[in-house]
Amino acid sequence: MAIRRDSQGILHFGDIDLTSVIREFGSPTYVYDLDSIARGAMDLGDAFEGAPHLIAYAVKANTAGAVVRTLVGAGCGVDIVSRGELRVAMACGADPSQIVFSGVAKQDQELEEAIAAGSHGIAAIQLESIEEVARVAGRARALGRTAQVGLRINPGIDLEGATHAHIATGHDKAKFGVPFADVARAVQIVESTPGLKLVGIGCHAGSQFTTLDPYLAAARVVFDLVRNLRHEGHLRSLAFVDSGGGFGIDYGAGCLAQPTDFVREARAQQLKHGLGDLKLVVEPGRSLVAAHGVLVARVIQTKLSALRRWLMIDAGMNDLIRPALYQAHHPIVSLDQAPGESEIPWRVVGPVCESSDDFGDHSLGKQAPKAVAILGAGAYGYTLASQYNGRQLPAEVFLRAGRVVGHTARAAVEAWASERANAGL
Ligand code: LLP
Repeated sequence: MAIRRDSQGILHFGDIDLTSVIREFGSPTYVYDLDSIARGAMDLGDAFEGAPHLIAYAVKANTAGAVVRTLVGAGCGVDIVSRGELRVAMACGADPSQIVFSGVAKQDQELEEAIAAGSHGIAAIQLESIEEVARVAGRARALGRTAQVGLRINPGIDLEGATHAHIATGHDKAKFGVPFADVARAVQIVESTPGLKLVGIGCHAGSQFTTLDPYLAAARVVFDLVRNLRHEGHLRSLAFVDSGGGFGIDYGAGCLAQPTDFVREARAQQLKHGLGDLKLVVEPGRSLVAAHGVLVARVIQTKLSALRRWLMIDAGMNDLIRPALYQAHHPIVSLDQAPGESEIPWRVVGPVCESSDDFGDHSLGKQAPKAVAILGAGAYGYTLASQYNGRQLPAEVFLRAGRVVGHTARAAVEAWASERANAGL
């Protein structure tokens, strides 16, 4: 659903006047458009043109039940990293046979719940080290089941400068994945371990790459590896190759990485490698939800200094930490007026006592707006929110067909914190 301004200068998210959201639900509040989320997922599904595939939505990007249900309803599976996320996926109707589970330090109880799910356990527990193999096999044997596993390899590709260092995962020094040099040994070990069935090989190179090159490079590493191992007689039970997630979105600086283009090119590569019988798994998080969520916030006050005009809003880094954590720049727009021509930008900051609680410079009009919307906030917004500085968690509002179909209130953290203090804890 597009952002649009009416003739009075009021900002709408589809058919909803965002100032009415603040009046009704307070601020800061996340607002999500479920229809656009569903449409995006279906477009990505169409790009496979009937080829066997699984779009495993990386639920860490946004775990709200309404969002996960929407994506499951649009045909997605789920990529999880914890038991908590497994439970969200199952509660939202995901079929265990469409769930993949990554993570470098999965706990025994988490493994057991994944192996015990449904009639055959989840689609794959993605092993990230040789050391993990015996632990997963032990849990499977204890449950009297065979665990379906994938190997998440570390493709070891140089990603310097391709994205923020905190979200690059497919290089030699990252903690993720089986080191490339150990992969052949890992395959042999998994294949000779009772209780395990090796069904997938994959990787996840990182997040928010704005060109397709890193994804295609990583996918080629996986395809070459699988072709070679098959020639050597391995991978007889393989069902899928997994190229991970990580497609970037346009936060204002442009983005040339369209997931649909990746799917077409990766599928062509897969066929060239003679791997057309295997399902292609992708694990997008951000690209399915980021653009379809905004965070609305009230302006509390302004401050003029010799160097800047500051705009203090009631959303802070505890509500949306991406600018502080990754130096991310999210577009910010006024809810009540269009930006002027060549005006002095407003430096938008939150109330949190940290210099990094800073959303950057934005053109918002001559006068200070009464409220703003921070765009591109549908992914890694609410899921990374905290109660830092004794602040409440933000509210969430869900839209379908231009109407509010559900909402959550801001969590009453203040009451909880003072109760805890009263109890001496
Ligand atoms: N698969 C695996 C194994 C992952 O580790 C991730 C993300 C994804 C899929 C989904 O990646 P996506 O399509 O959303 O980029 N908090 C950071 C992003 C951290 C991503 C961690 N792993 C941010 O706000 O940019």
